[in-house]
Amino acid sequence: MAKTYITTAIPYMNGTPHIGHAMDYCLADVYARYKKMVGNEVRMSAGTDEHGNKIEQKAKELGFPVKEYVDKNVAIFKDFISQLGVEYTDFVRTTDADHERRVQMIWEKLSPYIYKAKYAGWYCTGCERYVTEKEYDENGGVCPDHQKPYEKFEEENYYFKISEFKDKIRTAIESDELLILPEFRKKEMLALLEESPDVSVSRPKAQLDWGVPVPGDDSQVMYVWMDALANYITVLGYPENDISDWWPAAAEFVGKDILRFHSIIWPAMLMGLGLPLPKVLVSHGMVLSDGQKMSKSIGNVVNPVDVLEKHGSSAFRYFFLRHIDTFADSDFTWEKFENAYNNELANDLGNLVQRLSTMISKNNVKFEKHNIELDKEYVGLMENFEFSKAFDYVWDKIQNINRMIDEEKPWMLAKAGETEKLSECLNKLANELVFANKMLSPFLPETAAKIDEVFSETVTPPSQPLFPKQ
Ligand code: MSP
Repeated sequence: MAKTYITTAIPYMNGTPHIGHAMDYCLADVYARYKKMVGNEVRMSAGTDEHGNKIEQKAKELGFPVKEYVDKNVAIFKDFISQLGVEYTDFVRTTDADHERRVQMIWEKLSPYIYKAKYAGWYCTGCERYVTEKEYDENGGVCPDHQKPYEKFEEENYYFKISEFKDKIRTAIESDELLILPEFRKKEMLALLEESPDVSVSRPKAQLDWGVPVPGDDSQVMYVWMDALANYITVLGYPENDISDWWPAAAEFVGKDILRFHSIIWPAMLMGLGLPLPKVLVSHGMVLSDGQKMSKSIGNVVNPVDVLEKHGSSAFRYFFLRHIDTFADSDFTWEKFENAYNNELANDLGNLVQRLSTMISKNNVKFEKHNIELDKEYVGLMENFEFSKAFDYVWDKIQNINRMIDEEKPWMLAKAGETEKLSECLNKLANELVFANKMLSPFLPETAAKIDEVFSETVTPPSQPLFPKQ
């Protein structure tokens, strides 16, 4: 059986879940469920990024010991993932002893490419990233994403020789050995690669206490990104276990804001370790609120748990997987969300299931299920990670069944006593629905399971609407 390993970015534990965090989880979950449906054995990793200045500062600000603070947030994130109906097989915390030990072993393996030098330059704690002079000048000394002035660092650090791997990384990206999706981001990443200096991969302990100690040098801790990126392989047991059954990952899901780390430092680390690169980096867009970046200062932050508690995971997944474009930035507003819920989920799908199952059961029609083979077009879209388009495709099928009902008017056949034609018509419609439902199942697994139950050997209409109108 083909093996498929899928990873999700590990969020910083400096707060509770943001609506954008749902994207990596939902997209990866759809892919995992789809791959299982077509017969693959699947592992999917999730985890939490718990080291670094940002988290240390936040915990201090709130008056908590850092470990206690991250423990609390990890529990909240795990609940969030399960509320989304997302299933992972492996979970890694960067504070796990296994991860810390393995990441130190990774450091040692990379030591031929690590050297010590003085760093004098800029850093953004929000991004946990060193910033070049050019960027500093372009942005007038202020991080555009965090609206905070860059900090000046002058310290002795360890550096990782990106320069050693640049040519190989360029070739891997250009040849799609490391496929970057969407395509247009490839150019952006190649440009960043050209500009990328050797990267500092440690901080003096005096400046940052909360991190994995550098092996053999107590005065330094590892740069949080080196620690974090390694999660994708430490969770599989690397370097203590052979990971070749699962690695390279079939797909790594990340937001466009962190694609640069996955396109430069991560491939360099893997090349230094002699490991193959992930097959695909799927970088999704940002979820905006009323066209703007969500921010506490603007006051437009949408709490995903509010959405989940009000409407449940199916409605959440529906909106985020269909109306939030897989690759482009897209807008969340309550108005759009509620329209989609009432007009599409409740009307197009909920009513259809109710109507069709009621007609079948009321007229004692014997339902004979056909065998299902997935559409080529759907498979093509799913294999190319075009999930919102694949979802549109499935929805077209659903709307088409509604149109067919209106055109074929099975209730007239019932009235005229045309039992054979009625049975033929309802069987065709119900089979179309069961077929669409199969393709729906990676997106809305809970709903699809309910629909499968309704259209089992004996068709039983749902006792309550699948999506009560709000
Ligand atoms: N800790 C790093 C990731 C390390 S992966 C080795 C990090 N954490 S994060 O919490 O800032 O972001 C986690 C994920 O959530 C990223 O993929 C990021 O793109 C995504 N999102 C956070 N806010 C987002 C939106 N508003 N919209 C969509 N996704 C965004 O970066």
